[in-house]
Amino acid sequence: MTDAPLSIAVIGLGARARTWLQVIDESLDLRLAALCDPNPAARAAAAGHGAPCVATLPEALAHRPDAVLLCTPPTDRVAQVEACARAGAAILAEKPLADTLAEAARCVRLAEDAGVPLIVGLNFRYLAVTQAKRRLLRDGAVGTPEFGRFLYERWRDGTQPRLNKYPLTMPHPMLWEQSIHHFDLMRHVYATDAHRVMADTFNPSWSHYAGDTNVAALFEFENGMRLTYQGTWQGGLDRLDFDWRTDCTEGVVTQRDMFGDLAVGRRADGALTPVPLPDRRAWLDDAAGLLAAFVAGLRGTAPHQCTGRDHLHSLAMVEACIAASSRREPVWLEEFAALTLTEKEQT
Ligand SMILES: NC(=O)c1ccc[n+]([C@@H]2O[C@H](COP(=O)([O-])OP(=O)(O)OC[C@H]3O[C@@H](n4cnc5c(N)ncnc54)[C@H](O)[C@@H]3O)[C@@H](O)[C@H]2O)c1
Repeated sequence: MTDAPLSIAVIGLGARARTWLQVIDESLDLRLAALCDPNPAARAAAAGHGAPCVATLPEALAHRPDAVLLCTPPTDRVAQVEACARAGAAILAEKPLADTLAEAARCVRLAEDAGVPLIVGLNFRYLAVTQAKRRLLRDGAVGTPEFGRFLYERWRDGTQPRLNKYPLTMPHPMLWEQSIHHFDLMRHVYATDAHRVMADTFNPSWSHYAGDTNVAALFEFENGMRLTYQGTWQGGLDRLDFDWRTDCTEGVVTQRDMFGDLAVGRRADGALTPVPLPDRRAWLDDAAGLLAAFVAGLRGTAPHQCTGRDHLHSLAMVEACIAASSRREPVWLEEFAALTLTEKEQT
């Protein structure tokens, strides 16, 4: 592949695509090949980006993009991945890759069979705070992590015009749309996979959403680490309360803001010491980091990150929470191995 900008088609021009279009406009590595949305109002709103705006995926693929960015709701991804794979276009799909693990596994298989890269939009991995925390834990700054607590309490008014509407009616919107980021971060930062979960999901009486917006879970990971998780979209005041703390053999690592506020302390210290982080533009720089990694993978200058195959392990945590809550018993992630592992890994 040459150093010339790669062409990319953006499919789905809703809330998330607005961030992506700004990031792509700023990128020297990419040029827009086409924009696509069946909704004329969404096409009209994106018209200023200087690329042809079309209504269907086949019309977008007719512009022969090197890559496709799927910014559509996760409900119909198999057909979209199949069409892109047939056209030989590399795929960057927004999380979650699909709204069931089985469909996501089908997408991964389709892309693998076609030899087309399939990457998932896990932008929070590219935050400076995530990268600094991962380094601190890997380097054993305060010893080895043994347990943690992850709290995400948000009042998400799903009726606001700026927000997408499909989560209002989807089953388990918290898990599929939000907790999937958190589960991916846990696996990424702790560099291990979950192996057992106990969980309870429910919806408060005042919820805007048809599906469950509250998730309480206790995860055990393959490295022996335990983590308690509480996530809600319908709790607290009109702000986001975020608090992710990791207890290690010699002290703690805390993160009290989704985009920063990282601190570390040894057990004997009276107070936490803030970890300096570079200034970053929330949402834009993390998306730009993800895009740069996607391009590096396509050009072969770095291994692919955030692969669809890897993402299946985070989606399995979502399905394990749903199963544990409905069965009222612990669930072992092994149950999902037929979908998450390659045939070779299963033998
Ligand atoms: N990574 C993040 O931080 C982040 C943030 C927000 C949303 N997302 C993800 O981005 C994706 C889209 O979310 P959103 O908030 O933009 O939703 P949205 O509902 O605002 O926009 C989706 C758009 O896709 C269009 N669409 C539907 N079917 C289509 C099809 N077959 N072909 C082309 N366009 C189609 C719709 O008309 C709509 O304009 C979801 O997977 C969501 O989880 C990720």
